[in-house]
Amino acid sequence: MAYPSINRSLRFTTPRGELEIVEKEIPPIPANELLVKVKAASINPVDIQLWGAGLVAVVAGDKGMGRDFSGTVVSVGSAVKGWAVGDDIFGLLFHIVRSFKRSGGPSLTYPKFGQGTFSQYINVNPASDPVAKKPGCLTHQQAASIPLVALTAFACLAWLPPPATAQRRVIIIGASGGTGSWLVQLAKVSYDCHVTAVCSSRNAEYVKKLGADEVIDYTTKDVTQTLLAQRAENGESDLIVDCVGGKDLISHYEHILHPKGAYVTIVGDKTNVKSLGGPITYLTNPVQILRYIKGYIWGPRYACIGLLSKSSYLEQIVGRTERGEIHAEVQEVVKGAMDGEIQGWRKAIELIESKRIRGKVVLEIP
Ligand SMILES: NC(=O)c1ccc[n+]([C@@H]2O[C@H](COP(=O)([O-])OP(=O)(O)OC[C@H]3O[C@@H](n4cnc5c(N)ncnc54)[C@H](OP(=O)(O)O)[C@@H]3O)[C@@H](O)[C@H]2O)c1
Repeated sequence: MAYPSINRSLRFTTPRGELEIVEKEIPPIPANELLVKVKAASINPVDIQLWGAGLVAVVAGDKGMGRDFSGTVVSVGSAVKGWAVGDDIFGLLFHIVRSFKRSGGPSLTYPKFGQGTFSQYINVNPASDPVAKKPGCLTHQQAASIPLVALTAFACLAWLPPPATAQRRVIIIGASGGTGSWLVQLAKVSYDCHVTAVCSSRNAEYVKKLGADEVIDYTTKDVTQTLLAQRAENGESDLIVDCVGGKDLISHYEHILHPKGAYVTIVGDKTNVKSLGGPITYLTNPVQILRYIKGYIWGPRYACIGLLSKSSYLEQIVGRTERGEIHAEVQEVVKGAMDGEIQGWRKAIELIESKRIRGKVVLEIP
Protein backbone atom coordinates (compact mmCIF):
# COMPACT_ATOMS: atom_id res chain seq x y z
CA MET A 1 0.00 0.00 0.00
CA ALA A 2 1.53 3.37 -1.03
CA TYR A 3 2.28 5.74 1.84
CA PRO A 4 -0.17 8.68 1.51
CA SER A 5 1.36 12.13 1.05
CA ILE A 6 -1.40 14.62 1.95
CA ASN A 7 -3.84 14.73 4.88
CA ARG A 8 -7.01 16.82 4.93
CA SER A 9 -8.43 17.66 8.36
CA LEU A 10 -10.92 20.01 10.03
CA ARG A 11 -9.01 22.59 12.08
CA PHE A 12 -9.37 25.82 14.03
CA THR A 13 -6.95 28.41 15.40
CA THR A 14 -8.86 30.69 17.81
CA PRO A 15 -11.66 29.93 20.33
CA ARG A 16 -14.89 29.28 18.36
CA GLY A 17 -12.95 30.54 15.32
CA GLU A 18 -13.65 29.50 11.72
CA LEU A 19 -13.44 25.73 11.13
CA GLU A 20 -11.58 24.97 7.93
CA ILE A 21 -10.42 21.98 5.95
CA VAL A 22 -6.62 22.23 5.93
CA GLU A 23 -4.25 20.15 3.78
CA LYS A 24 -0.88 19.17 5.24
CA GLU A 25 1.92 16.84 4.21
CA ILE A 26 2.05 13.57 6.13
CA PRO A 27 5.48 13.15 7.80
CA PRO A 28 7.24 9.74 7.90
CA ILE A 29 5.72 7.37 10.45
CA PRO A 30 7.45 7.50 13.90
CA ALA A 31 8.73 4.11 15.11
CA ASN A 32 6.09 3.64 17.83
CA GLU A 33 3.04 4.78 15.88
CA LEU A 34 0.46 3.63 13.35
CA LEU A 35 -0.84 5.74 10.48
CA VAL A 36 -4.59 5.22 10.29
CA LYS A 37 -6.95 6.12 7.44
CA VAL A 38 -10.01 7.36 9.35
CA LYS A 39 -13.34 6.08 7.97
CA ALA A 40 -15.67 7.51 10.64
CA ALA A 41 -15.40 9.86 13.63
CA SER A 42 -18.05 10.65 16.23
CA ILE A 43 -18.74 14.04 17.75
CA ASN A 44 -18.84 14.61 21.52
CA PRO A 45 -19.72 17.69 23.60
CA VAL A 46 -16.02 17.95 24.49
CA ASP A 47 -15.20 18.68 20.84
CA ILE A 48 -17.18 21.91 20.89
CA GLN A 49 -15.95 22.64 24.43
CA LEU A 50 -12.27 22.37 23.41
CA TRP A 51 -12.99 24.37 20.25
CA GLY A 52 -14.30 27.21 22.46
CA ALA A 53 -11.85 26.87 25.36
CA GLY A 54 -9.43 29.72 26.11
CA LEU A 55 -7.19 27.05 27.68
CA VAL A 56 -6.75 25.40 24.30
CA ALA A 57 -6.17 28.73 22.56
CA VAL A 58 -2.87 29.15 24.47
CA VAL A 59 -1.52 26.14 22.56
CA ALA A 60 0.22 27.62 19.52
CA GLY A 61 -0.84 26.73 15.99
CA ASP A 62 -3.97 25.24 14.52
CA LYS A 63 -5.81 22.43 16.26
CA GLY A 64 -7.82 19.50 15.00
CA MET A 65 -11.46 18.74 15.84
CA GLY A 66 -12.60 15.31 17.01
CA ARG A 67 -11.43 12.63 19.46
CA ASP A 68 -13.20 9.36 18.54
CA PHE A 69 -12.31 7.43 15.40
CA SER A 70 -12.57 4.17 13.50
CA GLY A 71 -10.46 3.35 10.45
CA THR A 72 -7.85 1.15 8.84
CA VAL A 73 -4.09 0.93 9.49
CA VAL A 74 -2.14 2.04 6.39
CA SER A 75 1.40 2.10 7.85
CA VAL A 76 3.05 0.53 10.90
CA GLY A 77 6.05 2.06 12.72
CA SER A 78 9.12 -0.18 12.94
CA ALA A 79 8.80 -0.65 16.74
CA VAL A 80 5.07 -1.43 16.83
CA LYS A 81 4.06 -5.02 17.62
CA GLY A 82 0.67 -6.67 17.12
CA TRP A 83 -0.66 -4.46 14.31
CA ALA A 84 -0.48 -4.89 10.54
CA VAL A 85 -1.39 -2.86 7.48
CA GLY A 86 -5.06 -3.47 6.70
CA ASP A 87 -6.17 -3.99 10.34
CA ASP A 88 -9.36 -2.15 11.27
CA ILE A 89 -8.89 -0.13 14.45
CA PHE A 90 -11.06 2.14 16.61
CA GLY A 91 -10.22 4.29 19.60
CA LEU A 92 -9.67 7.67 21.17
CA LEU A 93 -7.06 10.39 20.57
CA PHE A 94 -7.08 12.51 23.71
CA HIS A 95 -3.91 13.91 25.21
CA ILE A 96 -2.29 17.26 25.19
CA VAL A 97 1.33 16.64 24.21
CA ARG A 98 3.04 13.86 22.33
CA SER A 99 6.72 13.04 21.95
CA PHE A 100 8.50 10.85 19.49
CA LYS A 101 12.06 10.04 18.60
CA ARG A 102 12.89 10.51 14.93
CA SER A 103 15.47 8.04 13.69
CA GLY A 104 18.84 9.73 14.06
CA GLY A 105 17.22 12.99 15.21
CA PRO A 106 16.24 14.63 18.50
CA SER A 107 13.15 13.69 20.47
CA LEU A 108 10.27 16.02 19.55
CA THR A 109 7.38 17.07 21.78
CA TYR A 110 4.45 18.97 20.32
CA PRO A 111 0.83 19.65 21.20
CA LYS A 112 -1.38 16.68 20.47
CA PHE A 113 -4.24 19.12 19.87
CA GLY A 114 -2.53 19.36 16.48
CA GLN A 115 -4.33 16.11 15.75
CA GLY A 116 -8.08 15.65 15.59
CA THR A 117 -10.03 12.70 14.26
CA PHE A 118 -12.12 14.74 11.78
CA SER A 119 -9.16 13.95 9.50
CA GLN A 120 -8.43 11.58 6.68
CA TYR A 121 -5.27 10.30 8.42
CA ILE A 122 -4.16 10.25 12.06
CA ASN A 123 -1.11 9.00 13.97
CA VAL A 124 -2.00 6.60 16.76
CA ASN A 125 0.29 5.16 19.43
CA PRO A 126 -1.26 1.79 20.30
CA ALA A 127 0.82 1.59 23.51
CA SER A 128 -0.63 4.79 24.98
CA ASP A 129 -3.84 5.63 23.08
CA PRO A 130 -6.87 3.54 24.04
CA VAL A 131 -7.55 1.47 20.90
CA ALA A 132 -8.86 -1.96 19.89
CA LYS A 133 -9.27 -4.02 16.75
CA LYS A 134 -12.66 -3.34 15.20
CA PRO A 135 -14.72 -6.52 15.05
CA GLY A 136 -16.58 -7.41 11.86
CA CYS A 137 -19.93 -7.15 13.66
CA LEU A 138 -19.48 -3.37 14.05
CA THR A 139 -19.49 -0.92 11.16
CA HIS A 140 -16.86 1.85 11.23
CA GLN A 141 -19.67 4.25 12.13
CA GLN A 142 -20.75 2.16 15.11
CA ALA A 143 -17.15 1.60 16.26
CA ALA A 144 -16.36 5.34 16.07
CA SER A 145 -19.38 6.05 18.28
CA ILE A 146 -18.01 3.99 21.18
CA PRO A 147 -14.65 5.06 22.70
CA LEU A 148 -15.11 8.32 24.63
CA VAL A 149 -18.56 7.60 26.02
CA ALA A 150 -17.94 3.93 26.83
CA LEU A 151 -14.64 4.76 28.60
CA THR A 152 -16.54 7.40 30.59
CA ALA A 153 -19.25 4.90 31.50
CA PHE A 154 -16.61 2.47 32.83
CA ALA A 155 -15.14 5.30 34.95
CA CYS A 156 -18.56 6.04 36.47
CA LEU A 157 -19.41 2.43 37.25
CA ALA A 158 -16.04 1.97 38.98
CA TRP A 159 -17.67 4.02 41.81
CA LEU A 160 -20.18 1.27 42.59
CA PRO A 161 -19.64 0.02 46.14
CA PRO A 162 -18.67 -3.68 46.38
CA PRO A 163 -21.60 -6.07 45.97
CA ALA A 164 -23.56 -6.95 49.12
CA THR A 165 -26.43 -9.43 49.38
CA ALA A 166 -29.01 -7.35 47.51
CA GLN A 167 -28.78 -6.38 43.83
CA ARG A 168 -27.08 -2.99 43.54
CA ARG A 169 -29.27 -0.08 42.42
CA VAL A 170 -28.05 2.55 39.95
CA ILE A 171 -29.81 5.76 38.87
CA ILE A 172 -28.71 7.27 35.55
CA ILE A 173 -29.68 10.87 34.75
CA GLY A 174 -29.51 11.47 30.99
CA ALA A 175 -29.77 7.75 30.20
CA SER A 176 -30.55 8.11 26.48
CA GLY A 177 -27.46 10.15 25.49
CA GLY A 178 -24.03 8.97 24.40
CA THR A 179 -22.64 8.15 27.84
CA GLY A 180 -26.03 7.27 29.35
CA SER A 181 -26.68 4.57 26.73
CA TRP A 182 -23.45 2.78 27.71
CA LEU A 183 -24.08 3.28 31.42
CA VAL A 184 -27.45 1.55 31.20
CA GLN A 185 -26.06 -1.39 29.22
CA LEU A 186 -22.85 -1.87 31.21
CA ALA A 187 -24.62 -1.49 34.57
CA LYS A 188 -26.80 -4.44 33.50
CA VAL A 189 -24.39 -6.76 31.68
CA SER A 190 -21.14 -6.08 33.57
CA TYR A 191 -22.50 -5.37 37.08
CA ASP A 192 -25.98 -6.95 37.14
CA CYS A 193 -27.50 -3.81 38.69
CA HIS A 194 -31.09 -2.64 38.96
CA VAL A 195 -31.17 0.43 36.69
CA THR A 196 -33.45 3.45 36.97
CA ALA A 197 -33.11 5.59 33.85
CA VAL A 198 -34.06 9.27 33.78
CA CYS A 199 -34.98 10.49 30.28
CA SER A 200 -37.85 12.05 28.34
CA SER A 201 -40.91 10.04 27.27
CA ARG A 202 -39.73 9.83 23.64
CA ASN A 203 -36.70 7.82 24.81
CA ALA A 204 -38.45 5.63 27.41
CA GLU A 205 -38.80 2.56 25.15
CA TYR A 206 -35.21 3.01 23.91
CA VAL A 207 -33.67 2.89 27.43
CA LYS A 208 -35.90 -0.08 28.36
CA LYS A 209 -34.53 -1.93 25.31
CA LEU A 210 -31.01 -1.14 26.56
CA GLY A 211 -31.93 -2.85 29.83
CA ALA A 212 -33.37 -0.18 32.16
CA ASP A 213 -35.69 -1.68 34.81
CA GLU A 214 -37.50 1.57 35.57
CA VAL A 215 -37.85 4.85 33.71
CA ILE A 216 -38.54 8.31 35.14
CA ASP A 217 -39.78 10.76 32.50
CA TYR A 218 -38.29 14.08 33.56
CA THR A 219 -40.74 16.00 31.36
CA THR A 220 -43.80 14.83 33.30
CA LYS A 221 -42.46 13.92 36.75
CA ASP A 222 -40.46 15.68 39.45
CA VAL A 223 -37.30 13.55 39.39
CA THR A 224 -36.20 14.35 42.96
CA GLN A 225 -39.60 13.56 44.50
CA THR A 226 -39.92 10.38 42.45
CA LEU A 227 -36.47 9.18 43.57
CA LEU A 228 -37.27 9.99 47.22
CA ALA A 229 -40.52 8.02 46.92
CA GLN A 230 -38.63 5.15 45.27
CA ARG A 231 -36.16 5.17 48.19
CA ALA A 232 -39.02 4.96 50.72
CA GLU A 233 -40.42 1.95 48.85
CA ASN A 234 -37.31 0.04 47.74
CA GLY A 235 -34.51 1.29 49.99
CA GLU A 236 -31.40 3.30 49.33
CA SER A 237 -29.50 3.22 46.05
CA ASP A 238 -25.80 2.52 45.47
CA LEU A 239 -24.91 4.94 42.70
CA ILE A 240 -26.30 8.03 40.97
CA VAL A 241 -24.60 8.99 37.69
CA ASP A 242 -25.39 12.46 36.40
CA CYS A 243 -24.77 12.98 32.66
CA VAL A 244 -26.79 16.23 32.51
CA GLY A 245 -25.28 18.52 35.15
CA GLY A 246 -26.91 21.06 37.43
CA LYS A 247 -27.75 21.04 41.13
CA ASP A 248 -31.28 19.60 41.24
CA LEU A 249 -30.22 16.53 43.24
CA ILE A 250 -27.36 18.05 45.21
CA SER A 251 -29.29 18.67 48.44
CA HIS A 252 -31.12 15.34 48.17
CA TYR A 253 -28.65 12.66 47.06
CA GLU A 254 -27.59 11.91 50.66
CA HIS A 255 -31.19 10.81 51.33
CA ILE A 256 -31.37 8.67 48.18
CA LEU A 257 -28.03 6.87 48.55
CA HIS A 258 -26.73 4.73 51.41
CA PRO A 259 -23.54 5.99 53.14
CA LYS A 260 -21.26 3.72 51.08
CA GLY A 261 -22.89 4.85 47.85
CA ALA A 262 -21.72 7.57 45.47
CA TYR A 263 -23.05 10.50 43.47
CA VAL A 264 -20.88 10.77 40.37
CA THR A 265 -21.19 13.56 37.84
CA ILE A 266 -19.39 13.77 34.49
CA VAL A 267 -20.54 17.37 34.05
CA GLY A 268 -20.43 19.24 37.41
CA ASP A 269 -22.87 21.85 38.66
CA LYS A 270 -22.89 23.70 35.33
CA THR A 271 -25.39 22.88 32.59
CA ASN A 272 -24.01 24.83 29.62
CA VAL A 273 -22.92 22.25 27.04
CA LYS A 274 -20.38 24.67 25.52
CA SER A 275 -18.17 24.94 28.62
CA LEU A 276 -15.75 22.23 29.73
CA GLY A 277 -17.13 19.77 32.29
CA GLY A 278 -15.73 16.92 34.35
CA PRO A 279 -12.90 17.29 36.90
CA ILE A 280 -11.86 20.72 35.59
CA THR A 281 -15.02 22.14 37.20
CA TYR A 282 -13.43 21.50 40.63
CA LEU A 283 -11.29 24.54 39.77
CA THR A 284 -14.08 26.70 38.37
CA ASN A 285 -16.55 25.77 41.15
CA PRO A 286 -14.58 24.92 44.33
CA VAL A 287 -17.74 24.09 46.32
CA GLN A 288 -17.49 20.74 44.51
CA ILE A 289 -14.16 20.12 46.28
CA LEU A 290 -15.85 20.65 49.67
CA ARG A 291 -18.59 18.23 48.62
CA TYR A 292 -15.94 15.68 47.62
CA ILE A 293 -14.17 15.98 51.00
CA LYS A 294 -17.42 15.80 52.97
CA GLY A 295 -18.47 12.68 51.08
CA TYR A 296 -15.02 11.09 51.54
CA ILE A 297 -15.26 11.52 55.33
CA TRP A 298 -18.92 10.79 56.02
CA GLY A 299 -20.33 9.35 52.81
CA PRO A 300 -22.03 8.97 50.46
CA ARG A 301 -19.11 9.87 48.19
CA TYR A 302 -19.31 12.75 45.68
CA ALA A 303 -17.06 12.95 42.61
CA CYS A 304 -16.80 14.81 39.36
CA ILE A 305 -14.89 12.49 37.07
CA GLY A 306 -13.29 11.91 33.67
CA LEU A 307 -12.92 8.84 31.48
CA LEU A 308 -10.65 5.80 31.99
CA SER A 309 -8.12 5.78 29.16
CA LYS A 310 -7.46 2.03 28.77
CA SER A 311 -7.52 -0.21 25.70
CA SER A 312 -8.67 -3.18 27.83
CA TYR A 313 -12.10 -1.54 28.32
CA LEU A 314 -12.55 -1.20 24.56
CA GLU A 315 -11.55 -4.86 24.18
CA GLN A 316 -14.23 -5.72 26.75
CA ILE A 317 -16.79 -3.83 24.63
CA VAL A 318 -15.63 -5.76 21.54
CA GLY A 319 -16.15 -9.11 23.31
CA ARG A 320 -19.62 -8.18 24.56
CA THR A 321 -20.62 -6.79 21.16
CA GLU A 322 -19.51 -9.99 19.42
CA ARG A 323 -21.62 -12.00 21.87
CA GLY A 324 -24.60 -9.73 21.12
CA GLU A 325 -24.84 -8.52 24.73
CA ILE A 326 -24.57 -4.81 23.96
CA HIS A 327 -25.29 -2.45 21.11
CA ALA A 328 -23.81 0.82 19.75
CA GLU A 329 -26.66 3.19 18.92
CA VAL A 330 -25.97 5.67 16.11
CA GLN A 331 -28.79 8.19 15.66
CA GLU A 332 -27.37 9.69 12.48
CA VAL A 333 -24.39 9.49 10.12
CA VAL A 334 -23.46 12.95 8.80
CA LYS A 335 -21.96 13.11 5.31
CA GLY A 336 -19.84 15.87 3.78
CA ALA A 337 -17.51 16.13 6.77
CA MET A 338 -14.44 16.70 4.57
CA ASP A 339 -16.27 18.83 2.01
CA GLY A 340 -15.69 22.59 2.24
CA GLU A 341 -18.93 23.20 0.30
CA ILE A 342 -21.29 20.92 2.20
CA GLN A 343 -19.61 21.59 5.59
CA GLY A 344 -21.20 18.52 7.19
CA TRP A 345 -19.54 19.39 10.49
CA ARG A 346 -22.02 22.27 10.97
CA LYS A 347 -24.90 19.79 11.21
CA ALA A 348 -22.96 17.58 13.65
CA ILE A 349 -22.21 20.61 15.86
CA GLU A 350 -25.86 21.75 15.80
CA LEU A 351 -26.99 18.28 16.83
CA ILE A 352 -24.55 18.01 19.75
CA GLU A 353 -25.42 21.52 20.94
CA SER A 354 -29.14 20.62 20.87
CA LYS A 355 -28.58 18.08 23.73
CA ARG A 356 -31.27 15.87 22.15
CA ILE A 357 -29.15 13.10 20.60
CA ARG A 358 -30.19 9.50 21.22
CA GLY A 359 -26.96 7.48 21.33
CA LYS A 360 -24.41 9.14 19.03
CA VAL A 361 -23.93 11.21 15.88
CA VAL A 362 -21.10 10.09 13.60
CA LEU A 363 -19.31 11.81 10.70
CA GLU A 364 -18.43 9.77 7.63
CA ILE A 365 -14.80 10.51 6.64
CA PRO A 366 -14.13 9.76 2.94
N1 LIG B 1 -16.21 14.08 32.37
C1 LIG B 1 -16.09 13.39 31.26
O1 LIG B 1 -15.10 12.70 31.02
C2 LIG B 1 -17.21 13.44 30.25
C3 LIG B 1 -17.30 12.46 29.26
C4 LIG B 1 -18.37 12.47 28.38
C5 LIG B 1 -19.33 13.48 28.48
N2 LIG B 1 -19.19 14.44 29.43
C6 LIG B 1 -20.22 15.50 29.57
O2 LIG B 1 -21.44 14.85 29.87
C7 LIG B 1 -22.52 15.50 29.26
C8 LIG B 1 -23.30 14.49 28.45
O3 LIG B 1 -22.52 14.06 27.35
P1 LIG B 1 -23.06 12.90 26.40
O4 LIG B 1 -22.21 12.90 25.18
O5 LIG B 1 -23.26 11.65 27.14
O6 LIG B 1 -24.51 13.49 26.11
P2 LIG B 1 -25.43 13.68 24.88
O7 LIG B 1 -25.40 12.43 24.10
O8 LIG B 1 -25.20 14.93 24.18
O9 LIG B 1 -26.80 13.82 25.70
C9 LIG B 1 -27.98 14.00 25.03
C10 LIG B 1 -29.07 13.26 25.81
O10 LIG B 1 -29.31 13.94 27.05
C11 LIG B 1 -30.68 13.81 27.35
N3 LIG B 1 -31.09 14.91 28.22
C12 LIG B 1 -30.97 16.24 27.97
N4 LIG B 1 -31.44 16.94 29.03
C13 LIG B 1 -31.84 16.03 29.95
C14 LIG B 1 -32.42 16.12 31.27
N5 LIG B 1 -32.67 17.30 31.84
N6 LIG B 1 -32.67 14.98 31.94
C15 LIG B 1 -32.42 13.78 31.38
N7 LIG B 1 -31.89 13.61 30.13
C16 LIG B 1 -31.62 14.73 29.44
C17 LIG B 1 -31.37 13.86 26.00
O11 LIG B 1 -32.54 13.11 26.07
P3 LIG B 1 -33.97 13.78 25.79
O12 LIG B 1 -33.92 14.29 24.36
O13 LIG B 1 -34.88 12.66 26.02
O14 LIG B 1 -34.07 14.91 26.77
C18 LIG B 1 -30.36 13.19 25.04
O15 LIG B 1 -30.66 11.83 24.77
C19 LIG B 1 -21.93 16.66 28.44
O16 LIG B 1 -21.99 17.84 29.21
C20 LIG B 1 -20.48 16.24 28.27
O17 LIG B 1 -19.61 17.35 28.13
C21 LIG B 1 -18.18 14.44 30.32
